[in-house]
Amino acid sequence: MDLKEAIARESVQIDREMGQDLAGLAIGDELLKEILEYGLFSGGKRIRPFLVVLGARLCGRSDEAVYRPAIAFEYLHAATLFHDDVIDHADTRRGRLSVIKRYGMVGAILAGDFLHAHAMALVGRYGGQAALDTFTAATRGMVEGEFLQLRAAGKWEVTADDYFAIVRRKTGVLIEAACVTGGIVAGAGAAQLAALQTYGGNLGTAFQIIDDLLDYQGQFTGKPIGNDLAEGKSTLPLIIALDRAPERERQSLLALLHDVSQRSERLDEIVAFIDRHAGFVEARRRAEQLIDSGLTALQVFSGPGDPDFRELFEDLGHYVLSRQR
Ligand code: IPE
Ligand code: IPE
Ligand code: MG
Ligand code: MG
Repeated sequence: MDLKEAIARESVQIDREMGQDLAGLAIGDELLKEILEYGLFSGGKRIRPFLVVLGARLCGRSDEAVYRPAIAFEYLHAATLFHDDVIDHADTRRGRLSVIKRYGMVGAILAGDFLHAHAMALVGRYGGQAALDTFTAATRGMVEGEFLQLRAAGKWEVTADDYFAIVRRKTGVLIEAACVTGGIVAGAGAAQLAALQTYGGNLGTAFQIIDDLLDYQGQFTGKPIGNDLAEGKSTLPLIIALDRAPERERQSLLALLHDVSQRSERLDEIVAFIDRHAGFVEARRRAEQLIDSGLTALQVFSGPGDPDFRELFEDLGHYVLSRQR
């Protein structure tokens, strides 16, 4: 089974399920409907609902009903992006105006709340209490990740441990919860759930490391380059480079970083510094290690029906490492 094909096929199914589900809500307000349409159907990769479906398949459930709890993960993801672009002052998302830029703060916040509430209802209805506990723990984790990040903002001496504590929560836990929920709705046992948890957490953390690399280097993300730095966010490539640079060079870069106007204007210099001290290469290596150990965890799936789906999980790990958007 080819991963690209599988993602393309599942995305169509996920979009169809979301379309039907939203129509069933009979939303009265035209503006709310428009914001949801705009924010949900704008070229997202659908990674999280895909992982729910794949997790369920890997654990032996093959029916169509798994799409119902799956779309809840795209709803929550979209809701967090509506809110994230408010928090991060981001004007673009997926190559076009962010929801806040297009519809304003009130629309972005309320539409996000609406999706979040509905997502919880879906997970509870189709996944039961265990799935709902997983889902809401992930949401709380994401909020805690944002608070940690807030506290770290503008501090250029944060450690790699600080960084991992943030990304594990803000991105890792939701991707982990998507994998685990797939297992839960398929009635998986404890060992299988634990494997999905390890894989998902590692995949999600690696996903954010790559996202942070793309913030410096990406041409196709649909998001502006250098936004993290402008927002005062120190991410893994910079943390590694600062750690490895000789003290004098390190001090002069820190001085540059503390100067708000300089740090965006002289982005090229900062990128060269990171490159010179192997920040990009080493950050990528950390992501690769996470994927490797996530894949090792999946070895518990060795039954006769497993290889196809396990292979997709493996391919997904490699896809996350090589993605350009
Ligand atoms: C973006 O997630 C936010 C992060 C957690 C890095 P995705 O890269 O999955 O976003 P879309 O849905 O495909 O746009
Ligand atoms: C990802 O955080 C969004 C959440 C996990 C809530 P970022 O702020 O780093 O992601 P982008 O770069 O805006 O997609
Ligand atoms: Mg953010
Ligand atoms: Mg952001």
